[in-house]
Amino acid sequence: MELQPLRGSAAREAFQRDGVVIVDGILDPYFREFLQSYYRTVREHSEAHFGRDWTSMNGQGDACSEAVLYTVRSHISDITELDLLPSMSVARMFEKGDKVGRHIDGPTNEINCTLCIDRDSPWYLHFENEKVAAKVDLLPGQAVLYRGNELFHWREKYTGSNHVQVIFGYVLKGGAHEDRAFERRGRPEYAPAGRPKYGPRGFVKARLYRLREWLREWRGILSR
Ligand SMILES: [Fe+2]
Repeated sequence: MELQPLRGSAAREAFQRDGVVIVDGILDPYFREFLQSYYRTVREHSEAHFGRDWTSMNGQGDACSEAVLYTVRSHISDITELDLLPSMSVARMFEKGDKVGRHIDGPTNEINCTLCIDRDSPWYLHFENEKVAAKVDLLPGQAVLYRGNELFHWREKYTGSNHVQVIFGYVLKGGAHEDRAFERRGRPEYAPAGRPKYGPRGFVKARLYRLREWLREWRGILSR
């Protein structure tokens, strides 16, 4: 099932039913153009301020992605009909060959939002659990909203050369993970040029991720 963008009450109903919905018109077009310009500048001239992990070039807690996290919160609350607290944001810039392994998110992403900023070719984000099997292809300015720690999600290898997303999460006010709100506040994870991009924990995580992907691709196991 390929999901289509929805608005208003149709979006609310779809989220209640499936836990995942594409939301259109979440960003003002001028704000979208501003973000496209900003991340183009980062990619071409300011990579030193960003890090690179096992998935893609990225900026955890990037000032601009934090601004998105805050400014669209009321819109997300309206669609989900939930009282939400901001928890984290990250900007990710994908290149040819990048992919995202099948996973569910941690507790900071009870409600997660992937917002497409820029792209040069289509790229499906797949969702699956016992109730739902869906895939979405987002245009710049569209966002997919989903229950990050209930739905498995992944992307196959990207065949284009530029795909920019802002990914941000919320926790439920009064919920089990309320204490994870503002998780990364004051702890930006920029990696200055010339320094290792991640420490021992990140190194082990990256190796385990590659091993898992190898097992999935070549041995056909760990497909869940
Ligand atoms: Fe995720």
